[in-house]
Amino acid sequence: MDGIVVLISGRGSNMRSIVDAGLPVVAVVSNRADAAGLEYARSRGIPAEIVEHRAYASREAFDDALAAAIERYAPRLVAMAGFMRILTPSFVGRFSDRLMNVHPSLLPAFPGLHTHEAALAAGVKVHGATVHFATPALDHGPIVVQAAVPVLPGDDAGRLADRVLAQEHVIYPRAIRWFLAGRLAISGGVVHLAGAREAQYLFAPAEPVPE
Ligand code: GAR
Repeated sequence: MDGIVVLISGRGSNMRSIVDAGLPVVAVVSNRADAAGLEYARSRGIPAEIVEHRAYASREAFDDALAAAIERYAPRLVAMAGFMRILTPSFVGRFSDRLMNVHPSLLPAFPGLHTHEAALAAGVKVHGATVHFATPALDHGPIVVQAAVPVLPGDDAGRLADRVLAQEHVIYPRAIRWFLAGRLAISGGVVHLAGAREAQYLFAPAEPVPE
């Protein structure tokens, strides 16, 4: 089975990029009933499920319910795409080496929330996005691919976020394709890409994305 279960919490634009890339998404699961991305999944005939974290008394109980919802689809990969929950070590262990995440920074810089504001405040000249295998630590784990995005004069967090997001939509489907083709190997915490020479990095053009 090549199926992917995508976990979302909101807008779901990364999920949409994965679906639109023709990748085999077998289900979308959200921890919020109001996640806008659910509607898109349904419109594409993809089962969209809600496992609301607020309905569970503990993190462990929520993670057990989430794992059960995922396992019904027996996916080969679980892809977190704007899934804003911290997961328990036992959940991460259950899906180890087949749980991916996209994060809007060049990890290990700027884990957590508000990455674009943090990048601007730090004055970095290059920001970006990372697709990585998940570990129990937040926004941490073996890096599959990164996209570097220049910080331009006059950027604010919104403009920077838009340009980073455009690159997330490029690198996440690419990472998943590599995974499904069996080309990713993790050794000593480092992801190696087998086969034809392709870069595990990408440099976004310095020009702003036209509005
Ligand atoms: C994306 O920028 C994603 O990288 C980020 O949330 C956004 C979700 O957008 N994820 C994280 O910050 C995880 N730590 P989307 O719902 O449109 O894909």
